[in-house]
Amino acid sequence: MSAKQLEAQTSDRTGQAMNPEAPFIHVEHLTKVFHPAKSRSLGWLRKKSAQEGFVAVNDVSFQVQKGQVFVIMGLSGSGKSTIIRMVNRLIDASDGTISVDGKDVRSLAPTELRAYRNQTINMVFQHFGLFPHKSLIDNVAFGLKVRGVDKQIREAKAVEALKLVGLGDRIHAMPDQLSGGMKQRVGLARALATDAEILLMDEPFSALDPLIRKDMQELLIKLQRNFKKTIIFVTHDLNEAMYLGDRIMVMKQGKDIQCGTALDLLEAPADPYIEEFVAEVDRSRVLTAGMIARHTSIARATGSPAGNEALQVPEGTVLHELLPIFAAGAGQVDVVDNDGESIGTVTAGEVFAALSPKGLSNAS
Ligand SMILES: Nc1ncnc2c1ncn2[C@@H]1O[C@H](COP(=O)(O)OP(=O)(O)OP(=O)(O)O)[C@@H](O)[C@H]1O
Ligand SMILES: [Mg+2]
Repeated sequence: MSAKQLEAQTSDRTGQAMNPEAPFIHVEHLTKVFHPAKSRSLGWLRKKSAQEGFVAVNDVSFQVQKGQVFVIMGLSGSGKSTIIRMVNRLIDASDGTISVDGKDVRSLAPTELRAYRNQTINMVFQHFGLFPHKSLIDNVAFGLKVRGVDKQIREAKAVEALKLVGLGDRIHAMPDQLSGGMKQRVGLARALATDAEILLMDEPFSALDPLIRKDMQELLIKLQRNFKKTIIFVTHDLNEAMYLGDRIMVMKQGKDIQCGTALDLLEAPADPYIEEFVAEVDRSRVLTAGMIARHTSIARATGSPAGNEALQVPEGTVLHELLPIFAAGAGQVDVVDNDGESIGTVTAGEVFAALSPKGLSNAS
């Protein structure tokens, strides 16, 4: 295994050490074959389809560590929603295993399944669907209420979440008093405020206009720092996938064709299909100082070179924000994680190499 692959498996974007032995979500050989409803098929068609079926998800395997944002990316019809519906057991898998926190999801008995859906996972759809007759605080606290959380605790959590999405002064407002973007913020606050450790998000931002969408992506990263959920996020937008995902799985016609960090996909696309996709990516807005620092410190093997006098930047700084620093004469920057610990250094040359279509590995 290469150093890069090892890194992809053992640390996420936040630099948290992870145990490769114990993924929180572990999916192996997951397959779904849809058979058309018998009553709707006719004669020979029924016979043929019953034999063959339609393979919507074909032998897909992946692992998600606790606290990670795992993105499933692919074109329409590639099987993304089918995967998360199987994780949620909204539909039954035809084959393969799904293990969540050591539990075999496919064999949960009805009562265990109810507990799994109520306590462990929370599904978030494109339309957050606020209750129009409930105030913001009651909307956000609702998920906790149905889980039987005490009124005082659920309201405190709802207020905290609403503050984080910038609506702390509107907690008693009704949804129809809000703009579309504000409603989305409430929906996101509600999703993150529940006790569920896992969020399954199926294209939650796809219907938004680009400015609100960007705002929501930034908000999700900010909220995630606070709530540290384990998130499976579905999108067909590679820019969004790379911005949000600690790891990204690319799907094509039911198959998982590559799984890795944004940098892995950019540096070594496993398939001409991915190569075509990544050509369209705005590298300056998806690659971060942290990604480059982790990549280069492994390539250097000795960790970061001396950087005592280098300016410190947070690991989430995207490259287009670094460019003015280098333009002002800095030779390198010191990249720090959320706790202020140094991850490594990034030089101007590495940033330019990472921005070039030939990529970072070409520079070293
Ligand atoms: N209940 C079903 N019965 C038959 N075929 C289905 C069913 N659900 C999904 N499919 C088919 O399985 C394939 C994958 O569907 P899925 O909804 O997982 O795609 P997706 O990647 O989520 O697409 P989109 O981006 O459009 O949401 C599609 O060809 C779809 O038509
Ligand atoms: Mg879908």
